[in-house]
Order: sequence, then structure tokens, then C-alpha cells
Amino acid sequence: MESRIVLDESKFEQKLQLWALRIPRELSSSVTRLLHGCLLDKPRIKPITEDPDCEKNRLAVLSERIQNPDLSEIPDEKLDSLKKLCNFEAVPYSLTLGYSYWSAGHIAHLNISDELLLYKDVIAKVIYDKNHPRIQTVVNKVGTITNEFRVPKFEILAGKDDMVTEVKQYGATFRLNYGLVYWNSRLEHEHIRLVSLFQKGDSICDMFAGIGPFSIPAAQKGCTVYANDLNPDSVHYLRTNAKINKVEDHVIPYNMDARAFIRHLVVPTDSEMEVESQCATIRGSKGNTLQPNEESAMEKGTLDDAGDSEKCVNGSSTIAAKRRAEISSEDGGTENNDLNATTKRHRNTNKRVRGCVPSSLKPWEHFDHMIMNLPASALQFLDVFHGLLRKKHWKGLLPWIHCYCFMRSNETKESILADAESTLNAKIADPIFHRVRDVAPNKAMYCLSFRLPEECFKEESQGLMLSADTKS
Ligand SMILES: C[S@@+](CC[C@H](N)C(=O)[O-])C[C@H]1O[C@@H](n2cnc3c(N)ncnc32)[C@H](O)[C@@H]1O
Repeated sequence: MESRIVLDESKFEQKLQLWALRIPRELSSSVTRLLHGCLLDKPRIKPITEDPDCEKNRLAVLSERIQNPDLSEIPDEKLDSLKKLCNFEAVPYSLTLGYSYWSAGHIAHLNISDELLLYKDVIAKVIYDKNHPRIQTVVNKVGTITNEFRVPKFEILAGKDDMVTEVKQYGATFRLNYGLVYWNSRLEHEHIRLVSLFQKGDSICDMFAGIGPFSIPAAQKGCTVYANDLNPDSVHYLRTNAKINKVEDHVIPYNMDARAFIRHLVVPTDSEMEVESQCATIRGSKGNTLQPNEESAMEKGTLDDAGDSEKCVNGSSTIAAKRRAEISSEDGGTENNDLNATTKRHRNTNKRVRGCVPSSLKPWEHFDHMIMNLPASALQFLDVFHGLLRKKHWKGLLPWIHCYCFMRSNETKESILADAESTLNAKIADPIFHRVRDVAPNKAMYCLSFRLPEECFKEESQGLMLSADTKS
């Protein structure tokens, strides 16, 4: 019997869990104008849709960035104007982007299997003809990715030889050269999920940043982002994208190996140390020092917005009062939703600290999240955290580490965790595994999130001995 290979279009589907506002139909245009920048912004998808429950209403679908039913991510002025305009209700909204939706800008990217290679030019011509002018280049991935920059090789099958394109994700625009940098449109939902856990004012380190799909939206949210990639072309587009999205003030790009990057970031220079010791003296004399690793009012978000920042006299370093994300793992467990739930629980407190300035704590004093999206080998980089941070410099809770990895059929969460702990040389408390997507029948991508254990602090043996001596 003749065997046929059938395309399973459902494999392309992506489900987005969003929020929508139920509004009076006649106010659709006013609400659209008012919520400019906060509505869903996707090519070919209208943000105002029919309300299946009532003909007199419409649903205004909100951007993926707005993850919270209390709408705390919408600027206060907009929300206040909306409240004056009409009564509205926030309702959950699911959107499925199907097979026909996907492409990366003007480029259609195919992975033609060996059996179909004979027909590749015919397939490409049909795709090109049926989708032109939206699709202007049809490419096929050749071979497997072996280079460290994770960039596939492509052959151009139809259309113009132009690999520079622009794609949109959650309202941000990304320019990239598809032939020079890593890009995967299927990670969009994961980019949004992780960034939704960050809070305005957080300090983020992105070890394998690529062209910025975590870094740019985090910066748009008001985080300070230290973004690194080994591929100079990725860093070029990271910079370009920071400019396009007007967040270049919040993104600090680096082009280094990830280990060197993080070591460089957390080692204070001599001049910074000098400034810090002056600051410590001043803080000490005011009796208002934030002790290393001590939970303070700042941690709990109980400080007011203004008037709590403390500046060093020489002006070269500012220790600003900063609300910090309190993503507690107090619930423990390994369910994906724990991190989300605890973040949301704490979000309610954030309204109070809206508009606070980005942290000017240095990365060796504090950062909130470390993103490690190099699933093939990120786990092996965990060793860099052992003995990296110095307790005497550190302020506040230790950072969350979000380490991406693959899990094959012969592996389990327990075996991955054991691997992570052995590389980190420390026990991980309350790990959270989030299944990102299936990449092959026997291989899934996961994100392992955990708070860096205290054991990872650098041992200050000399300092300890000295203070013991002084006591005796
Ligand atoms: C899987 S991609 C992720 C990029 C981006 N975070 C995203 O989600 O699209 C991994 C990135 O790590 C970079 N990379 C690979 N090895 C590296 C290393 N040793 N140090 C820093 N970056 C590295 C690659 O160039 C690539 O851009």
C-alpha cells in the first residue's frame, strides 16, 4: 500500500492565555485610542472582537504583557481615564494562533524532510506564489545545528536573497539577520511567561541573550538588563532592537563568553570599592545600612516611592530605594505554576511603587533574575555561581536562576536536578520545572527555576577568622 506523509498542522498551534476587557460596543474606538500600547498587537489580528455572551458588548483584547487581572501593568493614567469613560470587566481570553499564522517577517522557513527533498523547489514555489507579497523569501534549513551560536544553515529556495527581516512579539519589534543569529518564533510564549515574572525596577542578567527576546520586553517593563551573547552579530541586533524599541537606556549589552560575562559583572572595580566604602561609612553614620542578605523594608516593598533614596555625597554612586520582586518559593513543590502564583500574589503590592527609578545597585550588590537560555548546555554553566557572590557586598535576597535544559526520555526531573546540584556544588531548595515545549518525540525543553542557594556565597574564610580573632 502507498504510504503518504501528511502534514500535522496542529503542531504549529500556539495557545495564548490573555486578558480582555468587556466594554460597551459603541465605545470601541475610544477604548482603542485610550489603550494604545496596551492592546494585543499582532499582525492580522484585530484587538477588538465580538463578545460571544452579549451582542451589545465588545472584547478589547489586551497585550500579552498584561498578565494580571488587576490590570496593574496598565499605566494608572490610562486606567483612570478608562474608568471615567465606562464600566468594564476583565475576563480571561484564549487565542490560538494556527498553522497559517506563522512566518518570520517576510521569510518562510521550512524544514523539508529527506523524503520530500526531491520536491523542495515545487513546495517553495507554491508557498511563495500563494503568499507573495507577504512572503518574499522561502528558505530551507540544511543539516543540523552544530555551531555554538545555534544558527542553522539555510538554502534559499524561492524569492529574493534577503535574510534581514523584522518580526513582532508582544508589541516589541525585532530586527535580525536570519542567517547570522539565533531566532525561534516558537519561543514567544516562553519569553512572555518569564518576563511576566519580573517586576518594574528589577535587575536582570541575560547570559545568552541572542537578539533580545527576553531582554527587550524586560527593559520595556522598566527592568535594568545586563544582556550578553557570544555572537557579535546577535549583539549588533540586540543593540539595534534596544534602539528600535526605545529601551537603550535600560539594556547594557556585552559580547563575551557567558562565564566571563557573569564573573566580570559581579566583580567590583577598585574605584567602585572605594566609593562603596565611602557610602558604607555614610550609611553607617546615618544608622540606616541595608545589611548583606538581610530582608528589609525595601525587600517587602513597604517603602514609599519618593524620598527614600539615599545618595552618596560624591554623586558617583547612588543607592536608591528599590522595591524588589519577592518571588518567594515558600510553597515549595515542583509544579510549573508555583513561581507564577507567588509572583502574582506579590504583585498587588507593586502598585504602591509604580514609577520608582530603576535600581542603581551594582550587579555585585544585587540582581534579581539570571536567564540562561542555552538549553543544550546551560546546566554545565551553573558551576560559575559557586563562590561567585560575596556575602559582605550582597544586599537582599539571592537571585532567581532560570536555567533552560532538554529532558530526554531516559532523563527525569530528579536526574536533571541532581545534575544541576552537582555542577552548582550546592543543594537546590524548592526547584520549579516548567515544561516549555516538545522539541522532538523523545525530547522536551524545560525551564528549571530556583533561588541561588546561600551555600553558593563565596567563603570569606580569612575575614571570618579575623572577626573570630577580634572577638576572642
Ligand atoms: C538558544 S539561543 C537563545 C537566544 C535568546 N535568549 C532567545 O531566547 O532567542 C542561545 C544563545 O547563546 C549564545 N551563546 C552560545 N554559547 C555562548 C557562550 N558560551 N556565551 C555566551 N553566549 C553564548 C548563542 O550565540 C545564542 O544566541
